[in-house]
This record gives sequence, structure tokens and C-alpha cells, in this order.
Amino acid sequence: TPRVQAPVWDSLSVGELASVDITSRDFAAEPFGFWARLRDDAPVQPVRWARGSTAWVITRHPDVEAALRDPRLRKNRQDALRPGVAAAGRGVPKVLAPLERGLLSLDGPDHDRLRRLVRQAFTPHRIELMREQAEQLTESLLDTAQRRGVMDLIGDFAAPLPLILIARIIGVPEEHVPRFRAWTRALLAVGERPLRSIGSVLWFMHYLRRLIVARSRDPRDDLVSGLVAARDGDDGLTTDEILAMLVLLLTAGHETTVNLMGAGTLALLEHPDQADLLRSGSDDPEVVRTAVEELLRFTSPVQTATERWSATDVEVAGVTIPRGSLVLAAIASANRDPAAFTDPDRLDLTRSPNPHLAFGKGAHYCLGAPLARLEAQIAVPALLRRAPALRRVDPTAPPAWRGGAIVRGLESLPVLL
Ligand code: HEM
Repeated sequence: TPRVQAPVWDSLSVGELASVDITSRDFAAEPFGFWARLRDDAPVQPVRWARGSTAWVITRHPDVEAALRDPRLRKNRQDALRPGVAAAGRGVPKVLAPLERGLLSLDGPDHDRLRRLVRQAFTPHRIELMREQAEQLTESLLDTAQRRGVMDLIGDFAAPLPLILIARIIGVPEEHVPRFRAWTRALLAVGERPLRSIGSVLWFMHYLRRLIVARSRDPRDDLVSGLVAARDGDDGLTTDEILAMLVLLLTAGHETTVNLMGAGTLALLEHPDQADLLRSGSDDPEVVRTAVEELLRFTSPVQTATERWSATDVEVAGVTIPRGSLVLAAIASANRDPAAFTDPDRLDLTRSPNPHLAFGKGAHYCLGAPLARLEAQIAVPALLRRAPALRRVDPTAPPAWRGGAIVRGLESLPVLL
């Protein structure tokens, strides 16, 4: 697999690796060799981060897993930093402050309280009830694609499916869904490119505030109405907390799954024997389940866990990360660690056990994992079945990756069915 080991990384010193821009498109095209170098030579290493700041990246499987569970690494920057200590990076514009009330920005009891309120909507049992809808939607997207014979795997298939499903759960009217793609993408870019994305993000927040008001007046059987009822009960939920929750669910709920299906399908196109294996076993739920876990491991749609801040000096693998540092647990690296996986750069859809960290670990473990799994378990085998000769329109063109260190995904992937 030519994409896996970029020889360029082998020729760089650790100092040079540390100055690589891990948020760039070029990096997204070839990240795994970079992670391998850090894992081998500098498993806990400060690297260049947005706007001249530094992030400490942790790259070995056991250390990444421990970091994700470590209560000294806080999501809330204010909690972690001494007053007066200049915060590295981030610096979220004030108008976006409500979004700092989302699950991924909170620790401890604040976090637990909010997570409890949405947990019921995402249990495996509740999500299983969406199977039929997910199947119908998949088939109708594939009907359209098959009539045309060609589609953009991302824009025409991998993106609409999770977006429409999460919008249905939340209660966003279907006709408003198309504009959400641009909004959620702007949101993902806020940490790294705040000025360019803020306009879209404000529109997104404005739209959701109006939805909250609409459901306050006229409740329906959807998640927004449920959260509004909790706000008006004695849970002490605020409108900003509802807003932050919706933004997080809409963003986390589709940008990641798009990337699993997009990068996962690309990996299958590059490993035709594995694609055949899944195609011929696509009626066997166990084959499909194991295959999707391997696609999660191999692609790591969330490359590094979201930002954490050290509340004290924290020692990891003999290296001291100073108090107040930004820490990134490199999930993509852990998922290719030869100490945890035999032959880690090989795509092996029968791999079992598969202790990948694609959904994180600990208190912030992905709330949407059952939904993401359901979507991928339906969509990827359906695509392979319906398109026995699926191939890229231009197999020689380098795949179009998007930049961003946290979420890694393809911009587009034109395919012939
Ligand atoms: C958290 C991965 C799909 C909602 C996380 C985290 C990871 C992750 C790694 C933990 C981040 C951290 O600890 O810093 C993924 C992947 C997905 C996926 C790889 C798809 C393949 C979804 C979906 C939803 C969702 C479909 C929507 C319902 C969330 C939420 C959190 C989260 C709300 C925050 C949980 C918390 O802080 O308590 N996800 N996710 N994710 N994910 Fe996902």
C-alpha cells in the first residue's frame, strides 16, 4: 500500500518532524509514516500547532489509551490553566463562547450531567430501530447513482446518509439539511482557521436557536423537543447548552462517518482482495461487523482526539508534559502501533480481536458509535454489492484529502459504479 509509508518522513530528524504542519492537506495525504516515526523515536513530542503554538502529541497505543482516560488531562481549558498563564493556541472568539458548553469541552460532573440527557437517544437498541430507514436511504442514494453510472462517493453518498439520519434524530426538517454540510465543515475549521469560518458558524448557531424556539412552542417527537423539555424541567439545562449539544451532534454526527465511509471505500478499492471478501460475505453480519471495525482502525476518521489540557505536570513514557499544555492523543498512530496490532499497515478485514481506539476511550467515548457502526455496516456492503466493478474515475490521480489534524477525510472521490 503505497500511501502508508511515505519515505519522506524517514529522512527527517525529530526536530524537523516537530515543525511539520500536521493540519495541512499534504500531511493528511500521508500521515501514517509520520506517526510511525514519532512512535519509534519520540513517542511524546511537542509539535507545531495552529497559530504558532505547540501541541504535545502522544503516539503509542497504551499511552494514547491512558491519556484518553486521564483525569489530569482536561477538556476545559480554563480548569486546566492557571489564571494568568497565556493559553496556547485556540482562543475561541467570544461569539462562539456558547459552544464551549458542549460535551467535548466539559469535564467531570458538568459533562456527566449533559451526557446523561442525550445518552438514551443513542443506545444500541434505539439506534437499531433506525436500521430500516438507513437501508432505505442507502438504496435510494444508490438507485440515483446507478442510473447515472458515476457519482462522487463523498458528496453523493457518504455525506448525505449520516447527515440526513442525524438530522432526523435531532428534528431538523429535511429540506434544510443541504445547507448543513457547509456549516459543519466551517465549524471543524474554527480551531485552526477562525476568521475564515466564523460567518458560517454564526449562521449555523442562528438557525439552531430558531429551531429551539420553534420546538419550545410546538414540541414534536424529536431530540430538540426532548432537550427543550429537560431545560424547562429541573435539569437546569440552558439554551446555550442545548445549542452546544445540537452543534456537536450535527458535526460529530456526520463529518466523521463520512470519512469512515469515504476513506474506508478508498482503502477497499486499493485492496481488491479485501473488497471481494466483504462483497461475498456481505450477507453475514459477523463478517460485516468485523470488517467495519478494521476500516475504523485502518482509516481512523478522528486522527487525534480533540484537545486536552494538562492541569498538572503529567509524565507519559518518561517525558514530562508541563502543566497548561495542549495535548493531542494520536488515535491514528495508536491504531497502527505494531505493539498492539500484528502487521498494522495491512488492511485485514478478518482481524480479531481489534482493540482500536477509533471511537476514543473513557468519559468522552464516542456517543454516536452505535449509529456510526450501523451506517457503515449498511452502506459499505450495499455499495460493493450494487457496484461489482466499482472503481475510481481516475485511479492514477492522487486522492483529494482535506486538511485538519483532528478529522481526516476525502474532499471528493469520483467513482464509476
Ligand atoms: C466523541 C470518533 C461518529 C457523536 C468522539 C470521540 C471520538 C469519536 C474519537 C472522542 C473524542 C475525544 O475523546 O477527544 C467518532 C468516529 C465516528 C463518530 C470515528 C464515525 C466513524 C459519531 C456520530 C455521532 C457522534 C455518528 C452522533 C451522534 C459524538 C459525541 C462525542 C463524540 C457527541 C462527545 C462525547 C463526549 O464528550 O462525551 N467521537 N465518532 N460521533 N462523538 Fe463520535
